[in-house]
Amino acid sequence: MQEKKIQLSFISAHISELSENEQQLVENAKSALKTAYAPYSGFLVGSSVLLENGEIINGSNQENVAYPSGLCAERVALFYAGARYPDIKVKTIAVSVLSKNFEVNDVISPCGACRQVMAEYEDKQDQSIKVILHSPTDEVLIANTVEDLLPFMFKSPLLKKH
Ligand code: THU
Repeated sequence: MQEKKIQLSFISAHISELSENEQQLVENAKSALKTAYAPYSGFLVGSSVLLENGEIINGSNQENVAYPSGLCAERVALFYAGARYPDIKVKTIAVSVLSKNFEVNDVISPCGACRQVMAEYEDKQDQSIKVILHSPTDEVLIANTVEDLLPFMFKSPLLKKH
């Protein structure tokens, strides 16, 4: 038996330390959260996906009275990007959050299902996706690859017979 350790890497910063393009992407995510349909949680999430062709796709969480039928902002944006531009790689995804009910002082932490979907696109395109998580206090947490958000991710080779 052997204990093994893994190392994850992320950058903690203020929004002003980002490049102009990345600040703009975060601003897009902030605007996108205004389109959230979140009557049940009051938790508004905006997501902005930058593609390699320069296109930006925005998404926001869309809730449903049958709770599991709703979808997170990250998946709304990524699935639309995949459907609209199936062959274009995703460079960066920015996610921002605001609550109607309480003060949010921390960055949004994407749910496991959204991390798995990000991981799928990263695997599909064989190129890292940068993830920028933004708080209403303008702090950001940056992961340069989804691998750092989802260690031991389930990948397509695991489905194949050896
Ligand atoms: N939500 C997102 O849109 N993204 C996340 O990363 C976490 C949670 C949404 C789902 C639901 O509409 C609300 O936030 C509360 O969970």
